[in-house]
Amino acid sequence: MLFARAILLLLGMGAVNGFHPNHESGDLDPGDFTDTDITEKGILKAVSWFMETSPIPGKFPKAPGELADKNSTELFKAYFEADVSPDRFVKALEEIVKGNNQVEVDNGEDSSYFFHCGEIAKSIAQLRALRKAMLVSLEEPVTLAGLESARLNAGKALHVLQKFYSNTNWVEMGNDDIYEFLINEDSNVTVPIAPASIATCKDCVKNISGVYTCVDNILVKDMLVSGYKISATCKTKPQGQCGHGGKNDTTQDTYPTGGINKETSDPKLSPHAHLHKKAAELAIQATKNFFVEGDASLLTMVDQEIFRKFFNLKGYSLVFVIDTTSSMADDIAQVKEKSIQLIQKFSTLPDAPFNYIVVPFNDPDHGPAFKTHNVNELKNYISRLTVDGGDDCPEMSLSGLKLALDESLPSSKIYSFTDASAKDEHLKEQVKIKIDATLSEVNYLLTGTCSKRKRGSVTKRIARASERGYENIYEEIATYSGGFYVLTTKPELSRVLGVMELSLNAAPVKVTQARLDGTRFSFPVDETLTEITVSVKNMRSSRFSMTIRTPSGATARNTKTLIDTTNHKIVKVSPIQERGSWTVTVSPSSSYEVEIGGKSLLDFSYQIMQKQRDYMLPIQGRPIKGSSYAISLKMLGDAKGVKVKHLVSISERGTARSVPLNQTSDALGNVLAIATLPFDSSMSLLKVEGLSPNNLPFSRVSSSPIRTESVEVLPLPGQKGTMSPGETLRLSVVVVNDGTPASFSFKVWDDRSFLRSFSPKSSFLRTGQNITLTATFEAPVRQDKFVSSIATFTAESSTAQNYLKLPIAVITETALETDITPPGYNLMQLKMPCAEDSQNQPECFRHIWRMTFSVKDDHSDVNVKVNPNPTGVSCHPAGTDGDKDVICDYKFVSLCS
Ligand SMILES: *[C@@H]1O[C@H](CO)[C@@H](O)[C@H](O)[C@H]1NC(C)=O
Ligand SMILES: *[C@@H]1O[C@H](CO)[C@@H](O)[C@H](O)[C@H]1NC(C)=O
Ligand SMILES: *[C@@H]1O[C@H](CO)[C@@H](O)[C@H](O)[C@H]1NC(C)=O
Ligand SMILES: *[C@@H]1O[C@H](CO)[C@@H](O)[C@H](O)[C@H]1NC(C)=O
Ligand SMILES: *[C@@H]1O[C@H](CO)[C@@H](O)[C@H](O)[C@H]1NC(C)=O
Ligand SMILES: *[C@@H]1O[C@H](CO)[C@@H](O)[C@H](O)[C@H]1NC(C)=O
Repeated sequence: MLFARAILLLLGMGAVNGFHPNHESGDLDPGDFTDTDITEKGILKAVSWFMETSPIPGKFPKAPGELADKNSTELFKAYFEADVSPDRFVKALEEIVKGNNQVEVDNGEDSSYFFHCGEIAKSIAQLRALRKAMLVSLEEPVTLAGLESARLNAGKALHVLQKFYSNTNWVEMGNDDIYEFLINEDSNVTVPIAPASIATCKDCVKNISGVYTCVDNILVKDMLVSGYKISATCKTKPQGQCGHGGKNDTTQDTYPTGGINKETSDPKLSPHAHLHKKAAELAIQATKNFFVEGDASLLTMVDQEIFRKFFNLKGYSLVFVIDTTSSMADDIAQVKEKSIQLIQKFSTLPDAPFNYIVVPFNDPDHGPAFKTHNVNELKNYISRLTVDGGDDCPEMSLSGLKLALDESLPSSKIYSFTDASAKDEHLKEQVKIKIDATLSEVNYLLTGTCSKRKRGSVTKRIARASERGYENIYEEIATYSGGFYVLTTKPELSRVLGVMELSLNAAPVKVTQARLDGTRFSFPVDETLTEITVSVKNMRSSRFSMTIRTPSGATARNTKTLIDTTNHKIVKVSPIQERGSWTVTVSPSSSYEVEIGGKSLLDFSYQIMQKQRDYMLPIQGRPIKGSSYAISLKMLGDAKGVKVKHLVSISERGTARSVPLNQTSDALGNVLAIATLPFDSSMSLLKVEGLSPNNLPFSRVSSSPIRTESVEVLPLPGQKGTMSPGETLRLSVVVVNDGTPASFSFKVWDDRSFLRSFSPKSSFLRTGQNITLTATFEAPVRQDKFVSSIATFTAESSTAQNYLKLPIAVITETALETDITPPGYNLMQLKMPCAEDSQNQPECFRHIWRMTFSVKDDHSDVNVKVNPNPTGVSCHPAGTDGDKDVICDYKFVSLCS
């Protein structure tokens, strides 16, 4: 019937597998857009738009479009008008990407995270719920855990959002713009969803190589349809319903064959491969609008300050964690004198920190944290610190550090001053988990130990879980975070405070780090380095001398000594007179730890990955000792023309293992490389070696070491992380002991105190044995809005510990309810003077067609839209049900000729 096709019912209801996760999962053309590429590109567009509209005070305002299409390094250079490393922003971005990729593991069997199986309304509800979970984590006061949870939820929401463009027929409908309604409930442009009762696709044609050609296989033109892919929530593909398609779709050979996905540009994986680029472009645009510009974007929901925090656009904090017990009076005076002088010198440079924080600690108190942007206020505050008490030696130093980590910006530089050991050593694991989350660097400047104050011994060597052995917990934490540990005396403190100058660097890198047994050490200095620092520590704690030489053999000029104690020297060289292989010569021959740092915009970031549910995805928690992992590297900064050659893992003992790297790139042109590496050591550093853009050898070392564990904490798949107000939620993890038999104790906590109980508290596990740890969380009853939190599960024995973080959210039940029954309609009257068989008769011309019909829905109001002549329709309520039950008249002037 001619007219039937002309009628479209728009369902005005309460609401009316995609791109591949990443290039590491293989099988893709480098130019294909993955979830990772789309997320990164969309975010770069959003952040550059933000930077153009929100200039830094005192810098030149940017013209619209001036920062567009820059990579992160160029973007930060242009915004700050200086060499400022984008590493903190890259970290935030990676966390969002991780949330996005994590959906494949956590929710891979739930079609509503993929717009699969006609679950369009449910996917939209899922997307909105995840977006709300992100927003509530960003409510003031914004915490570290809140930011982490917000980024994870943003990544998950973006996963659902991006799949809309690869897995529904939005692109095939001819749309050149994004579908704003997905995140904006108030958008008045809505598109109907095809009811399950109608056939949406026809068979595709298979060619002799067994590949389907799916041209025009979608039967529905004006309604949204999605492809079916079998999952736990979607057991069958009904007759007539479009398939997802591709060789990994188990139903691609049943009617209707083929499918509609645009995930890749490979027709074997994606029947609509020819629309991949278009779908990706819209997904990138939608990602940008999720954060800026759109009517419901993040920037319209939170203030600028929070937006900056979310993307780590703020720079770093310089933090002092100071022991204020009586014996510290001299030390504090010296910190005030020397350090503030130094900080003042840098305070107007782009290298200066974003803010300064001081956390005092004593016994039994610590805090509160003092924060300022002003160096003079910092100086005044430090002068006013009063010292008292602390007669029994150990103090609450880790509590102070923990507060400092909570209060500071990510990748901050923390200096802790004390002359006593820690009374709160039990916080060590929590502190380390916070260091993992912030990537902040903790430096310890000790002017004594409890043993010297004749109270117990701080210098019992900690051999636990370490091949190297630490002098004390402070050295262990400093090493863990990639910071310095300096033990000196009170009179000598001023001679080591210069070490702080190393922190006043907006683009810090590590060039190399190694154990030297002998007298000579060489390292490469490439053209991107604008300063270098040489740190040498004699492991035998005895006196030594050192000389630094340039490639031509000349003694280094422009040097400045930052630390000069008996067994530890740090020298800074700036500017650098010559490039190439530099040499450090020490005397006498001994065992030394050498670390070369510097300032450069050439660096790398990495992810530790593992095959999970068919994809190569980032692992959660720490890697397992003795296992092999894929290390995915991404070069950052002035990386164009770089050739990466080797990935080296350096163990705590200083032994190195090198594997060759195969260089590739992603859709954004980033230099990527992937290699498989066994993790045999309990701690190792990663080093990348290769040739710089100017063909000079270069190397870079990860800022903090990777710690491996012999216990795993794994999520049980398919658990939902949401609960309704007043409800309880049970979350379980499996703890697997991969090490020697041991007794483990377990802990669970969350930042909003939703935890009610967990069990067991401890257990003995043989090698290979596992146990399920279950925690119960309870949401407050009177909770009318969304709230989210992060639950941390830890397992710890005397030699091993690991953890897992799971996001949890309180969501009112109605938020996820969707109306999926379509309204029904009934034709009441039709006046069509010009019948089909008389269409070509002259009397047919300019005849008026009229029809009357009723439309009814059980749950929500209906909207009626008719094509053609949309203005020809008028509806009124049929009874007392308002707009749920309406009668419509439609008039159309026929122009058949
Ligand atoms: C949606 O609402 C806006 C503002 O009220 C209006 O300008 C626009 O024309 C509306 N669009 C449609 C399709 O109704
Ligand atoms: C089958 O189709 C695919 C995708 O369009 C194409 O790459 C392949 O060459 C075709 N095979 C034959 C034998 O035509
Ligand atoms: C696709 O299926 C093949 C086997 O046909 C399997 O090896 C591969 O891991 C699957 N890929 C994905 C992404 O599911
Ligand atoms: C970023 O862009 C600049 C300018 O095009 C280029 O020199 C640099 O190598 C790029 N960095 C990366 C990591 O691609
Ligand atoms: C690097 O690529 C070559 C050739 O494609 C391959 O043979 C080799 O196994 C790859 N190496 C690594 C470490 O992946
Ligand atoms: C835990 O142990 C059980 C019984 O030995 C085993 O079937 C299961 O696969 C183990 N689970 C994990 C995650 O290792």
